[in-house]
Amino acid sequence: MAMQLTLQPRLQAIAGLVPQGVRLADVGTDHGYLPIYLLQHHRISSAIATDLHPGPLDRGRQTAQTYGMEKRIVFCLCDGLQAVDPQTVDTVVIAGMGGETIAAILDAVPWSREKLLLLQPMSRAEFLRPWLMDHGYAIGKEELVLDKGHIYPILQVTGGTMAALSAGEIYYGLSRPDGPLFAAYLQNWKSRLEKAAAGLRQSKLPGDRLTELEAALAALREREEFLCQP
Ligand SMILES: C[S@@+](CC[C@H](N)C(=O)[O-])C[C@H]1O[C@@H](n2cnc3c(N)ncnc32)[C@H](O)[C@@H]1O
Repeated sequence: MAMQLTLQPRLQAIAGLVPQGVRLADVGTDHGYLPIYLLQHHRISSAIATDLHPGPLDRGRQTAQTYGMEKRIVFCLCDGLQAVDPQTVDTVVIAGMGGETIAAILDAVPWSREKLLLLQPMSRAEFLRPWLMDHGYAIGKEELVLDKGHIYPILQVTGGTMAALSAGEIYYGLSRPDGPLFAAYLQNWKSRLEKAAAGLRQSKLPGDRLTELEAALAALREREEFLCQP
């Protein structure tokens, strides 16, 4: 019997958001765990796995071989989605990269607006959210996942327009405020912005960035107070 792959919570949460039966592109696949798991569980009909670097792509191929999935996944050495035929894909996952890299990958292929995108930034989500809003994408909803002590957002995105993000939403996102991780995610952001603002106050040239941070902090504190109401 073929070995079954177990996913860590971050990838498991992304896997849970992939619609049944879609044709998947996993960008920056590295180890290839996500498409292998989804194929093993009959959750997708086909998979393309891309990576910018030969080393990680080979790692993905090797894992696919280990799990008997090497013939089911098309491995593609390329930047983002640039060598992917849009006709062969319905859903795109871009996970485990910074928000700026994810934005650059989407920017290079206008057809990304016609697909369901599951985006999981490891950092700079506060860059990615407004970038999506300003570039013809709509964040449908967000989920938070806890993995190895870190909370990560997963954004479900399509092409379209969305309501303007508030100064606070840019940081704490659009996940459900009654979700189990929302308060902790908000608190993390508040601590990070407080540290950044304190650093700028001590510097000789605080400038516009401090004004921006203070406005965002006020929005985060307001949101937190609202959460604490019985
Ligand atoms: C930290 S790994 C993430 C692996 C997997 N997606 C996950 O979430 O666990 C990031 C991978 O993205 C790849 N990568 C970075 N920039 C890329 C780009 N522009 N196009 C394709 N792959 C990229 C890296 O080579 C690396 O293998």
